[in-house]
Amino acid sequence: MTIRVIQWATGGVGRAAIAGIVDHPELELVGCWVHSKEKAGLDAGEIAEIGPVGVTATQDAAALIASEADCVLYSPVVANPKEVAQILRSGKNVVTPLGWFYPFASGGVPELEEACEAGGVTLHGTGIHPGGITERFPIVLSALSRAVTHIRAEEWSDIRTYDAPQVVGDVMLFGKTPEEAAASPMIQMLGRGFNQSLDMVAKALGVTLDAEKQTRHEVSVATAPIDSPIGPILPGRVAAQRFTWEGTVDGHVFVTARTNWFMGDRNLDPAWTFGSEGERFEIEITGDPSLKTTFHGLHPDSVAEGLRRNKGVVATGIHCVSAVPATVAAASGIRTYLDMPAYGGKAAPHLIGRTSQ
Ligand SMILES: NC(=O)c1ccc[n+]([C@@H]2O[C@H](COP(=O)([O-])OP(=O)(O)OC[C@H]3O[C@@H](n4cnc5c(N)ncnc54)[C@H](OP(=O)(O)O)[C@@H]3O)[C@@H](O)[C@H]2O)c1
Repeated sequence: MTIRVIQWATGGVGRAAIAGIVDHPELELVGCWVHSKEKAGLDAGEIAEIGPVGVTATQDAAALIASEADCVLYSPVVANPKEVAQILRSGKNVVTPLGWFYPFASGGVPELEEACEAGGVTLHGTGIHPGGITERFPIVLSALSRAVTHIRAEEWSDIRTYDAPQVVGDVMLFGKTPEEAAASPMIQMLGRGFNQSLDMVAKALGVTLDAEKQTRHEVSVATAPIDSPIGPILPGRVAAQRFTWEGTVDGHVFVTARTNWFMGDRNLDPAWTFGSEGERFEIEITGDPSLKTTFHGLHPDSVAEGLRRNKGVVATGIHCVSAVPATVAAASGIRTYLDMPAYGGKAAPHLIGRTSQ
């Protein structure tokens, strides 16, 4: 049976998801919500640059909530838990990269569980980091090791490819003084997601983390003007930031999630670099044996390409699409990777042998 999906917002994640839904043999795109007035009335396929698909984008959330569909892929810029609850209560499953990866220590869970029960549906949070690299893949890899004592998931990304100048300048506080950046709300904002990943890893591996997570925010400043999408970053101003979240057991670090976000890796003090491996994600399991996995291919080949279509954002959208059948099949409630069967992507049989390997 075909699963009917509504795409909620058409930013980078949403546009990739539309292409993924249309391609997926078990899914059908039946609706599309947009925030922007200019996109209302356009064909969702045209917004996603894949050609018309016969679904008209609308700003009318109530009409979409009242419509017949099995699942909403929810990817607006900020989450509105009341809206998510309304969607769930209407009998539509929700897959989203905005949170709820493993939310049981955070607020608002009973209300959403109640909405899931009322609608007989499931809420599932997934993505890339958090929502994949931080917990789904480390948990799978850890099955190869005994006596695990530490798990690390870490990202190195060139933030010049992040096409959200207001967020980069006014929220992340790039280009500001180190003193101003120290007040960045990012460590708390991002921590809401990453701390859930730490909890999931701990639960899967059978340890109880200390109540307080450890967090660290470090910055590096420009030593010469650095060109960036928010204008030149002047010497002495913040040009690279590193955020770390750690879960400890009796005060000893057991699980680490870290992002290294740089405006390039030249003219920085301290002289942080991407190193010889470049932009990447890493997962490291310390145990017997210890393992390290590096993910390449989730970063754009150039700043210009990343600003047009960012592969990490595309992967986030597709991870959500891949999760839809398992989410729809799951028992009602908030369901995480610990409840779901292993699922993968979908082949394109008509392209096999026709693309370079
Ligand atoms: N977990 C992960 O690994 C992961 C990875 C990437 C992104 N994310 C999250 O996923 C979300 C979407 O990312 P994205 O890259 O697609 O973001 P984006 O390109 O900034 O797009 C978000 C979309 O949200 C809509 N929007 C704008 N202002 C809004 C408002 N005030 N209220 C409601 N909707 C509004 C717009 O939709 P229309 O254009 O349709 O009008 C916009 O295109 C973000 O919250 C991001 O943090 C998570």
